[in-house]
Amino acid sequence: MMRTLILATLSLLLFPSLSAWSPADEPGEMRSIGLEELKISSVEQKVGAPRINAGYTGSPLSIGKVPFPRGIGSHAPSRLAFELGGLAERFTVSVGVDDGKKDGLGSVEFIVLGDGKELARSGVMRGGDSPKKFDLDIMGVRVLTLSATDAGDGYGSDHADWAEPTIFGRNLPIPIRISDAEWNRLDDAQLQSGYVVTQIAPGIWRLRFGSPEKFVPTECLRSAPIRMEGLEQMTAAPRLPWKMSDINAYTTGRGTVFELPMNSGEQVYGMGNNIEIFNQTNRRSVVRASDRPEELQNDAHAAVPFFVSNKGYGVFVDSARYVSFYAGNVALAKNSPTVETQTENRIETDVAALYRNREVADKVMVIDVPGAVEGADIYIFSGPTMREAIQRYNLFSGGGALPPLWGLGVAYRSAGKFTQEKAVRLAKQFREDKMPCDMWGFEPGWHTKAYSCSYVWDETRFPDPAAMVRDLNTLGYHVNLWEHAFVNPLAPFYEKMLPWSGNYMVWGGLVPDFMMTEARDIYMDYHNRVLIDIGIEGFKIDECDNQPLSPTPWSFPECTRFPSGMDGEQMHAMFGQLTQMLFDREFSKRNHRTYNQVRATHGLASPLPFVVYSDAYKHENYIRAIGKSGFCGTLWTPELRDAASSEDMIRRMQSVVFSALAQVDCWYMDNPPWFNINRKANNEGQRHEDADENTRIVRDLMNLRMSLVPYLYSAFMDYHLRGVPPFRAVVTDYPNDPETWNLDLEYLVGPSLLVAPVTAGQNARDVYLPEGEWFDFWTGEKFAGKQKIRIEVPLETIPVFVKSGTLLPLAKPLQHIPGDACFEINVRVYGDGATPFVLYEDDGETFDYAQGKQNEILLKWQNDAGSGSVTKSGSWQTSPRYEIKEWKQWK
Ligand code: GAL
Repeated sequence: MMRTLILATLSLLLFPSLSAWSPADEPGEMRSIGLEELKISSVEQKVGAPRINAGYTGSPLSIGKVPFPRGIGSHAPSRLAFELGGLAERFTVSVGVDDGKKDGLGSVEFIVLGDGKELARSGVMRGGDSPKKFDLDIMGVRVLTLSATDAGDGYGSDHADWAEPTIFGRNLPIPIRISDAEWNRLDDAQLQSGYVVTQIAPGIWRLRFGSPEKFVPTECLRSAPIRMEGLEQMTAAPRLPWKMSDINAYTTGRGTVFELPMNSGEQVYGMGNNIEIFNQTNRRSVVRASDRPEELQNDAHAAVPFFVSNKGYGVFVDSARYVSFYAGNVALAKNSPTVETQTENRIETDVAALYRNREVADKVMVIDVPGAVEGADIYIFSGPTMREAIQRYNLFSGGGALPPLWGLGVAYRSAGKFTQEKAVRLAKQFREDKMPCDMWGFEPGWHTKAYSCSYVWDETRFPDPAAMVRDLNTLGYHVNLWEHAFVNPLAPFYEKMLPWSGNYMVWGGLVPDFMMTEARDIYMDYHNRVLIDIGIEGFKIDECDNQPLSPTPWSFPECTRFPSGMDGEQMHAMFGQLTQMLFDREFSKRNHRTYNQVRATHGLASPLPFVVYSDAYKHENYIRAIGKSGFCGTLWTPELRDAASSEDMIRRMQSVVFSALAQVDCWYMDNPPWFNINRKANNEGQRHEDADENTRIVRDLMNLRMSLVPYLYSAFMDYHLRGVPPFRAVVTDYPNDPETWNLDLEYLVGPSLLVAPVTAGQNARDVYLPEGEWFDFWTGEKFAGKQKIRIEVPLETIPVFVKSGTLLPLAKPLQHIPGDACFEINVRVYGDGATPFVLYEDDGETFDYAQGKQNEILLKWQNDAGSGSVTKSGSWQTSPRYEIKEWKQWK
């Protein structure tokens, strides 16, 4: 019985589409399934794509003149992986070189692997050889891989057949069939175009031109496997707005170029989170990790070579180079205008007018990947909608990050020069003042030396760090430490790190090569023993971007050499994310969820529980960055530091409340800004005349944040399981409404909130409400959508609108979120309340939910009455997380 239960949980996790399969079922009869009936979870094939029930050339499968009605025809070298989740017991297959090629050439060696371990090997087989049959025990194997090698003599004519591949078992997965038409269409595209298209997952294709570089994001930055379960639940018939074969690709001496079709009215977004630019159409944008995210060259902390189009597709460039996108602003000579289309020759006398003649009639998206001189890969994500294309990118990255529940509370970072005693005193004062707070961060002063870092506690300020962490924990805080990964000679592991570092220093410290296991182990062994073991639960990874625009940059040069073979340009792209991965891995190992900050990130970052922040500080840009983060699989905090006035402070705090990390960062101030507001007053210890009033207003805002925690947790679950960004620009959900195309200062939060923050100096603002009906969160007033409204913005409210049909759970605010927190919920019903809402109940701090320790509570409103019922009951049996107190309707 026990085994049945384990299998049941496993199969539900891996094959959520198994609806007919109930955990109560006893093991059944031995059944069998053709492996070709299952989805191939990953395909690596150098030439072409695998075919189902046909040899590589398309003729029926046949080995040594023996015909086989079913199986998989591939071309060596190839590796086809199938996720079996330990559900199959036996595997049989006949292998050999396909007869279709007729020249009798071809030599292949067939290898079957179970979870990476070799189970069988055919020896070299040549064209014409009789088939060889394997009969293998695959009990418990989670991933079965069929590998065909070129047998060491090149891959010409190496058509490798896996004939009648069959798995046997009592609890086999239900097959998910890929249509032959789907494969064949891909095949035609690649034959015509000189590049190879491989389907990676439903609606996701890799387009390979030539041979990609070694250090690319998919090789170096993957922190979680593709979330197949999420992809399988999506629209069944993904499509692209153009034919794969319309893409053009070539290499030059300086790199690889891709030209993609672009529709004249098409709008494109993303290419990282530069916080000044929103819509990327008709621009050139260089993707480059940088500390200057407000520059118009497109520099960004989140430098992510992914863009998404309102026509419903997305493209990820698998490169760590300074990729440029020319999004419809350059003209191909082959599309050149004709003599007839020339207009009169006007002689202009100012430069702006002279340069105006740049209308591009036939648009093209040019992707320039410098450095990739032998080729590169791009990944194409279909929609059919813009939001689904983003979801597919996030699921391809491994699904979105799921913070612990406490990560959704408020974070405070105390001054760099704070002592242990001061921190505990202020933390206590927050509790007395009833200022909600869950995370306490320490800035550089905890090190004996920062810039570069020693990672050793400064005993003069922190005589007993372990005791301090315990004290803060007792008060309900989770402790976070600032650092960067440039290793000072005072660091106890400096000598050990020396051979595993780049050949240039930064601030007198080593730059570890985290591509090397040795560097990772040295760094984390120390962090584990000295910091994580005493209870540190998060890190702020600073200075990992670069200063490409500075004449006096502090960081390492692009020509730096690293022991792994990576160069400085690639390391700039990856350094921040490689560091995040170290901590992510460690906390996962400890079955402990964490939530952190980072200043540079790259592609496939969605699963990493890190929020990007900046030293830039224009409030308007911080607002734009929140919505924009949803285009690139990252999160953003518009942290509050100091302010120009009480009004500025309150307005900034309002944006903070509606962001992924509600952080107040006082790294250069002893007191929170509601006491002193600005740096100067703070340093002089002057209490602002509005301090009491400001404290009250900020407290109310923090409480608002706390009341949103259950709603946000569900929004993050949508990110995690389905790839829906919890914070996203309005255009993401309304891509066909031109009014949303440049709407950068309002954004969506979770399934149904629209937030339009206000900056200091505004007493009214325009808000565009997309189609549908919307309710003012504060007054309940109803507005028709598809219109721009102008609203008054009293200082204490931030404009928030709720989509009609919503059930909005609001919790009674807690001061912080302990492990056994129970949220008392009032459900607000908007309009007919027809859209059910799912609350997720689990321990909120480990990964046990993934093993089934989670319940889903479905909120529903029907016949003027609300109900909250446990619809999916996992094994979370502890006291309830939510208590539903009241339902109230707005019509
Ligand atoms: C900056 C960082 C700030 C703060 C400061 C401390 O680089 O962006 O948030 O941590 O370092 O020195």
